[in-house]
Amino acid sequence: MQLTEDEIDLIRGSFRALALGTPATATVFYERLFERTPSLVPMFPADMEQQGVKMMSMLGAIVAQIHDHTALLPMVVDLARRHVGYGAVPEHYDLIGEALIHTLEQRLGAGFTPAVREAWVKAYTALAAVMIEAAES
Ligand code: HEM
Repeated sequence: MQLTEDEIDLIRGSFRALALGTPATATVFYERLFERTPSLVPMFPADMEQQGVKMMSMLGAIVAQIHDHTALLPMVVDLARRHVGYGAVPEHYDLIGEALIHTLEQRLGAGFTPAVREAWVKAYTALAAVMIEAAES
């Protein structure tokens, strides 16, 4: 993931603000995802509160290791392979990305500057590409 130091700082700073309100953040994320693509609902477990906590803590772990590919890669490859079992296919990754960017916009308000958006889009695009490739291998 070829992010600059500034981009990493923007991602870390904005994620901290998001994580402080984890349940609300996860709610915005899954509401957006399911509103846009209702066919995804049955793929997910009934306990979406737990799911939200898992998703946010995984994002936190990824953000924490974003500067260190050696640590990040095995974690992301495992995550991608587990997702094959959940029924995730490459086309789903853009839907998750859209919901993520929407969530950042909703939760950060004025803090969601063009530079913050750009850094997250770049990071998520790279993450999704790695996950899709890992899922196929
Ligand atoms: C960067 C992208 C993603 C991240 C960080 C992420 C993160 C997670 C995490 C942490 C879990 C908990 C289970 C586990 O750790 O294996 C999970 C579960 C799940 N994810 Fe994702 N996910 C991503 C992309 C996707 C995509 C593209 C889909 C496709 C629709 C998806 C669908 C699911 C489903 C259905 C579950 C529930 C599995 C179950 O408990 O039965 N995720 N995700």
